[in-house]
Amino acid sequence: MISAGPEDTRALGQLLGELADAGLVVLLNGDLGAGKTCFAQGVASGLGVSSVSPVTSPSYTLLNIHHGRLPLYHFDLYRLSQVDDLAELGYDEFAEGDGLTLVEWADRMTDALSASVIVSIEHLTELQRKLCLAALDDCGENLLEHLASQWQG
Ligand SMILES: Nc1ncnc2c1ncn2[C@@H]1O[C@H](COP(=O)(O)OP(=O)(O)OP(=O)(O)O)[C@@H](O)[C@H]1O
Ligand SMILES: [Mg+2]
Repeated sequence: MISAGPEDTRALGQLLGELADAGLVVLLNGDLGAGKTCFAQGVASGLGVSSVSPVTSPSYTLLNIHHGRLPLYHFDLYRLSQVDDLAELGYDEFAEGDGLTLVEWADRMTDALSASVIVSIEHLTELQRKLCLAALDDCGENLLEHLASQWQG
């Protein structure tokens, strides 16, 4: 889809957050400032995460956890140097767990991560972004079908 501004990107994330089941892993790819964190903010709002716990780029911490209908595990791998570091963070336990896992800069680790959905965000103009959502397994396909049927209609 073409997003015409941050509110569009957030709205799509929000719908995904509303429809997601526990255990979902979503990879977020795109350049600096593409809108990965913006999408993540929408997801948090769809999960009912309180605005007391604002979603920002966790670049310096690698992982932020927010509490909503499901826990949100928000990773940012921009500064990650080795796959080992990810294991040390307990990535597998989170990703196979009770919450929704979002991973910014997942393309740094593609080989190591299994996920259901991959969101690729491309910069078009100052306000326009191209968002491509692709399913990587049956669970992802199911979710994207629901998302498509409920998006703006
Ligand atoms: N259509 C759009 N969708 C999302 N963000 C947009 C859009 N148009 C403009 N923006 C702006 O682009 C910026 C996106 O920043 P954001 O932190 O979400 O990017 P990011 O992909 O997480 O970057 P980083 O790799 O640095 O973490 C925000 O300032 C946002 O307001
Ligand atoms: Mg970010």
